[in-house]
Amino acid sequence: MKQSEFDAWSAGQSYEHYMGRWSRKIAATFVNWVDAPAGADWLEIGCGTGALTEAVLATAAPREILSTDSSADFVAHAASQIRDDRATFKVADAAHLPCPDGSVDVVASALVLNFVPNKLGALAEMHRVLRPDGCVVFYVWDYPGGGMGFIDAFWKAAAEIDPSAADLDEAERFPFCQKDGLAELCRDAGADEVEISAIEVDSRFPDFEAFWHPFTLGAGPAPGFLKSMSEERQQQLKDNLASRFGSGGPVLLPARAWAVKACWTSES
Ligand SMILES: C[S@@+](CC[C@H](N)C(=O)[O-])C[C@H]1O[C@@H](n2cnc3c(N)ncnc32)[C@H](O)[C@@H]1O
Repeated sequence: MKQSEFDAWSAGQSYEHYMGRWSRKIAATFVNWVDAPAGADWLEIGCGTGALTEAVLATAAPREILSTDSSADFVAHAASQIRDDRATFKVADAAHLPCPDGSVDVVASALVLNFVPNKLGALAEMHRVLRPDGCVVFYVWDYPGGGMGFIDAFWKAAAEIDPSAADLDEAERFPFCQKDGLAELCRDAGADEVEISAIEVDSRFPDFEAFWHPFTLGAGPAPGFLKSMSEERQQQLKDNLASRFGSGGPVLLPARAWAVKACWTSES
């Protein structure tokens, strides 16, 4: 399964609390890893609440960054939070990027590509807008490797309460989100230089309630699924997770992403 009715992308503050704050931690390291030259023109796809946009502005010294997302709600949220003359925001789908051919140095995205139905089509569109010496750079969670710990725990517990949840587990939906799968995807898109590296940070919740709360906010696939459950099943799921982690102490889980840099060096 690639898309899910529970991929709920709205309510910036809820998303930020559920996922944006962890993406921010990856983004800071990611931008350093990308090591783009200062003065570059950046295009971001699926900017969400602006985790990567802010990291680019803070450390990559871009000439400008156009940050786009298919969710008007998220675009409005990010634009209201980020005041920087180098940044502009636009609603756009990955399938139709609002840039002329060969006009961008770096096309970037964070935690987006797995949610795009036609990944090869999106990569072709990213390649279209790249300057000849530009690169596509992105990161996705290591879902198949259990690297996004709190999401992994959620779906494992959810499948015990409701077996239909197993198909919604991002580890099942996005098997390509591992080193070999990502390399293959980029090669299939025609990239001839592909670099991939793991970036891992901690996601630490002071106690079980702090771990549970973001799932109740409705923004993102797991929260969207939780919302669809009856109150009784929600409680069963919460109890199941509490029994895994205990209700008292901190919950500490890995948040591991694969960072990818893809370049098309032998252009015709
Ligand atoms: C997991 S969020 C990541 C948001 C942000 N980049 C971050 O790192 O926190 C996925 C984002 O991709 C956006 N998105 C999903 N499908 C898209 C598409 N086809 N084109 C553009 N954006 C898309 C969603 O609206 C959402 O903002």
